[in-house]
Amino acid sequence: MEQQLTAFIYPLIMFFILGVVVPVLLSNAADKAHSFDDVPVQPAEESLYDQLGGVAAIDAAVDIFYRRVLSDAYIKVFFEGTDMVKQAVKQKAFLTMVFGGPNNYTGLDMREGHKHLVEKMGLNNSHFEHVLAHLRSTLAELGVGETKVAEIIAIADSVRGDVLNR
Ligand code: HEM
Repeated sequence: MEQQLTAFIYPLIMFFILGVVVPVLLSNAADKAHSFDDVPVQPAEESLYDQLGGVAAIDAAVDIFYRRVLSDAYIKVFFEGTDMVKQAVKQKAFLTMVFGGPNNYTGLDMREGHKHLVEKMGLNNSHFEHVLAHLRSTLAELGVGETKVAEIIAIADSVRGDVLNR
């Protein structure tokens, strides 16, 4: 009788250990391995737009930038027939987009937007350099660090070929 009981109980215990205890332990271990509740998670790298300070920073930068552009006798002639309120709105949306912020730019692409200036008014490299210089001094005025300024100037410079229709 005792032998019969042992023959029945041992397989039952083995079945319980292998079928219930081991799977529960394994699943707890797996949960632990994937639980990051107590780990400080680094945010994904911020966009340049966020690093600069978002909408308020872009607004301030574009306003100062166009004030500088319009007081530069060498390039202000290009903007004589331009509605500067609309222009600032477009420039803010454009820069927001290229700096990785929300994409609400609906204006022309850089080639289409400047082609007539190249063809009718001789827009060239020297004018482009003035614009870059105003962008650089605007950012410096706002206290943007040198590394960030260099990053932004490189982005602005990347549209040179399109702006000058080359
Ligand atoms: C980093 C380089 C530049 C950027 C990112 C830029 C950006 C823009 C944008 C977004 C527009 C609006 C396009 C549209 O009408 O939908 C625009 C228009 C215009 N840009 Fe630029 N631009 C750049 C260089 C220049 C330069 C070098 C000049 C002249 C010195 C210039 C003069 C103008 C003028 C006059 C308009 C308005 C054209 C019009 O009213 O018909 N831009 N630009």
